Amino acid sequence: EKHRTNEGSLWGGRFASGPADVMAALSKSTHFDWKLARYDIAGSKAHARVLHRAGLLSEDELAGMLSALGRLEDDVLSGSFVPAESDEDVHGALERGLLERAGEDLGGKLRAGRSRNDQIATMVRMFLRDASREIASGVLDVVDALTEQAAKYPEAPMPGRTHLQHAQPVLLAHHLLAHAWPLLRDVQRLKDLDARLAYSPYGSGALAGSSLGLDPAQVAAELGFDGPVANSIDGTASRDLVAEFSWVTAMIGVDLSRISEEVIIWATKEFGFVTLDDGYSTGSSIMPQKKNPDIAELARGKTGRLIGDLTGLLATLKALPLAYNRDLQEDKEPAFDAVDTLGLLLPAVSGMIATLTFHPERLAELAPQGFSLATDIAEWLVRQGVPFRVAHEVAGECVRACEQHSPAKELHELTDEELSDIHPALTPQVREVLTVAGSLASRDAVGGTAPNRVAEQLEAARAEVAAF
Ligand code: ARG
Repeated sequence: EKHRTNEGSLWGGRFASGPADVMAALSKSTHFDWKLARYDIAGSKAHARVLHRAGLLSEDELAGMLSALGRLEDDVLSGSFVPAESDEDVHGALERGLLERAGEDLGGKLRAGRSRNDQIATMVRMFLRDASREIASGVLDVVDALTEQAAKYPEAPMPGRTHLQHAQPVLLAHHLLAHAWPLLRDVQRLKDLDARLAYSPYGSGALAGSSLGLDPAQVAAELGFDGPVANSIDGTASRDLVAEFSWVTAMIGVDLSRISEEVIIWATKEFGFVTLDDGYSTGSSIMPQKKNPDIAELARGKTGRLIGDLTGLLATLKALPLAYNRDLQEDKEPAFDAVDTLGLLLPAVSGMIATLTFHPERLAELAPQGFSLATDIAEWLVRQGVPFRVAHEVAGECVRACEQHSPAKELHELTDEELSDIHPALTPQVREVLTVAGSLASRDAVGGTAPNRVAEQLEAARAEVAAF
């Protein structure tokens, strides 16, 4: 048993004994890093080719290695090869699988000139690049659901709110699109991140760089990267890109949770803005009448988890000295958790939004309430030459006059006399802006809530989706 590492391990020569059970149990990562197996095999194939180019594998050996790796890949993908209890990590398990297929003499040559440190850093980037694309597509489905709903209501008003108080009427479509734009920026962020993820740490070795005449640029190109990292220490020891990914996933959660919070409120009896589809809501085990917005609540709740994934990772990275430290193994579970969480959440949220039934009559009834046209009175007065400072006071007095009635009047219910008593400039012509439609139409600058601008905005949002 001379010159043999422990079964399933990649080291052992300098150790008189194998690891204690508790050491092995703590160290073990196959239960999560096995997810990266196919990336590790792709890396191994590329690595075999650079070994061959450097004269360290003959033509026959390369062919034998690639064939064994191909068979191993098939067995991994079919599930017939899985980590054994004795395997410490994905790299050890795959080396065992390779040795079983290529034989110890040939298989034992593959590890030359690479380290698990550069391997894992590369695998994580490959994983994040694929995951980013999948998440982006799920986010775009949510955007589609929002734009489709917006398209159904080109003219429907709703009460726009600030501080959750009635503020000014807006179009329902405008409000829905206000949720779409941050999600489109999230997709953009994932795309931007990919430009940074596109550099391969493979060849960085443990930290000091590639030896044996191996070419990191060739491995990078074969694995679909734009090039190798500029600094092997950075390549193996940094996880800022994992943290950036985690930030974007947390932000997506935050964006989904804001929509969700509104859906939860909108579905209450008090608001009555929407009805949830039966397929996208749940019941109560005791109250037969209940229909609960569980998707929205889980989106809100799981966002806490996504934020936790980010903050946990940042805490792990804080103050880690260069270069690789085993702490870095803790980068994977939070990133995987974020991917799995969004994998469940995104299709559920897009389905929930796509199947919402809005109640435009209810929204229209509420749109002018709460004196939401007071700003329109002030701006109408400005157009009559009244300074805004005065106009603001006058419109405020109109609100006060309404509230002096019991029950309170709405602004359009004030009589001509009441209006002119408040200010002589308040002629009956002011009534032209005391309608929701008039108010909406007046906000016709770019980005505003006028129907023509919202239609324009909807097209712009759809064009962004199409451009990704
Ligand atoms: N499992 C480790 C990780 O995920 C990679 C292996 C590096 N291990 C080591 N002892 N240097 O980061």
